[in-house]
Amino acid sequence: ALPKRVKVVEVGPRDGLQNEKNVVPTPVKINLINMLSETGLQVIEATSFVSPKWVPQMADHTEVMQGINKLPGVSYPVLTPNLKGFQAAVAAGAKEVSIFGAASELFTKKNINCSIEESLERFSEVMTAARAASVPVRGYVSCVLGCPYEGKISAAKVAEVSKKMYSMGCYEISLGDTIGIGTPGSMREMLTAVMKEVPVGALAVHCHDTYGQALANILVALQMGVSVVDASVAGLGGCPYAQGASGNVATEDLVYMLNGLGIHTGVDLQKLMDTGTFICNALNRRTNSKVSQASCRL
Ligand code: HMG
Ligand code: MG
Repeated sequence: ALPKRVKVVEVGPRDGLQNEKNVVPTPVKINLINMLSETGLQVIEATSFVSPKWVPQMADHTEVMQGINKLPGVSYPVLTPNLKGFQAAVAAGAKEVSIFGAASELFTKKNINCSIEESLERFSEVMTAARAASVPVRGYVSCVLGCPYEGKISAAKVAEVSKKMYSMGCYEISLGDTIGIGTPGSMREMLTAVMKEVPVGALAVHCHDTYGQALANILVALQMGVSVVDASVAGLGGCPYAQGASGNVATEDLVYMLNGLGIHTGVDLQKLMDTGTFICNALNRRTNSKVSQASCRL
């Protein structure tokens, strides 16, 4: 049975913008987040406290966190790869963070410069500090349906890493199809394995749309009981360490589908589309949202 409501996690300001080649002015980022806050979204991933040498686009993380209007009832989590990032995030006013691991050794090495085992040690330091500061932590697992460096990733490996991050105390595990290569078939197989280790109520899916499978994969996840879905306004994004991967499923398209299924999100589709138009104009690019493209012709 499908869930009655879905929590949409907007990752555009982080996953969407981190991949932009030209540095996006901080006021544009702040405006984007403020507009998203007015759409009814409950969770807006705002930025990353990663090394500016690795991802220069996120170097203004503190200014972004301090410049946005934080609405009550909306959370603004940020990525923190290690203790240094966690401390900087909290100092900037972050009330929630995300750690990000992967089910692939090579991707972990390329993305955060360590092995899976080492990444889990770093994460456990973050967890200890977060517990002391009462900061909730979300955990990402990347490459759950395939890796740009290793190819096929076994569902058992995804389940193992997910279980470890959940056992550490992550309240939610977001399963990332980083390169958008999965299909409803591989999504079902992977989720079946992960759901044996992590309760479905603590799972989210994070589908990049490189192969055009994101909405189909999300529908399978919903049918299996997942009720948290990540998405990016205008379908912006990608990962600098997964070349050629396109953006996440467009939030507009996800909300359109959920509306059609009678699933409550609390998100105002028109305001969301206006926000998509704003950021596409600012970046001088065309939206990846099919719904927005369609509406433009009405
Ligand atoms: P490293 O070079 O191994 O780190 O990078 P280090 O600990 O050896 O430190 C090297 C330098 O970085 C030092 O500075 C540190 O102070 C500094 P120096 O002495 O050279 O001046 N440093 C930091 N600076 C700021 N913030 C920090 C930080 N940590 C160390 N937190 C590190 C390791 C993890 C830092 C690096 O690899 C990194 O920043 N990686 C980030 C990669 C990234 O952001 N990827 C994109 C996000 S993941 C994603 O998109 C996937 C997802 O969407 C899900 C999916 O789609 O699957 C989440
Ligand atoms: Mg991503």
